[in-house]
Amino acid sequence: MGQSKENTLPASQIEQTAIKDQQHVWHHLIQHKPFEETPPMMVVSGEGMRVKTDTGAEYLDAVSGAVWTVNVGYGRERIAKAVYEQTKTMNFFSGCMGNIPAAEYAQMLTDVMPGLDRVYYSNSGSEANEKGYKIVRQLAYQKSGGKEHGKKHKILYRDRDYHGTTITAQTLRGLWPDLYKANEDNDIYKIVSVAINDIADFEAKIKKYNTGKYKTAGFLHEIVLMNFGGVLLGKDYLQKAYELCAAFDTPTFCDEIQSCMWYPGMFLYN
Ligand SMILES: Cc1ncc(COP(=O)(O)O)c(C=O)c1O
Repeated sequence: MGQSKENTLPASQIEQTAIKDQQHVWHHLIQHKPFEETPPMMVVSGEGMRVKTDTGAEYLDAVSGAVWTVNVGYGRERIAKAVYEQTKTMNFFSGCMGNIPAAEYAQMLTDVMPGLDRVYYSNSGSEANEKGYKIVRQLAYQKSGGKEHGKKHKILYRDRDYHGTTITAQTLRGLWPDLYKANEDNDIYKIVSVAINDIADFEAKIKKYNTGKYKTAGFLHEIVLMNFGGVLLGKDYLQKAYELCAAFDTPTFCDEIQSCMWYPGMFLYN
């Protein structure tokens, strides 16, 4: 960390912005009480791996935007120009229609995802997972000609994975407070927790939830548990879990929001 005078905003502006923040911004996943006394750090600019605050303090950002999201770094002109040009040409149109960047990028992505041939665009990781829950339930519905409607809908998840902050995403994680934890037998939540890297538990649960009234519609998992210290999912575990999923006609879907197609050959099991 260092100080750099030329990047310091006028004191009056710093103060005014801090007041606006204190009065109007509802921050993500954080207690607000301390902000009544001291406003949060205001990050105002960035270049490469470094960010600057409104008071001119400079930080080396080793966690990519605090939540591992700015992997390309800050202030990238090529990206800024491309966004500018595209925004001028066509800034938004509903995904019901086609557009050039979406088609081009889908082709680029599917080229590096053997076995997968279609891309659905979402606004966030939580939303992408929500789509996944819907897709596997719809698949079960379609495959059964409607017979499995409301029955084959349980989602298996691993109890130390993280899948986002929508209500469903929060229920699909063992680390949230009790308020959010779901009872796996409760039909509202439609989820089943399996212990991390414990194939015996996985086998017991997938059997249990395919013998009664309800069945499993999908298995959601992170390959590398980034929010749990970067724990790697065991390859033998994964292979066996995928075999069990195939035996119980349960599609698997990976949440690679942080690991980003890390696992070589993972699609072989799908
Ligand atoms: C593995 C994983 N899944 C889902 C999410 C949720 O993504 P978002 O915050 O964009 O909703 C995250 C976010 O950190 C994540 O790390």
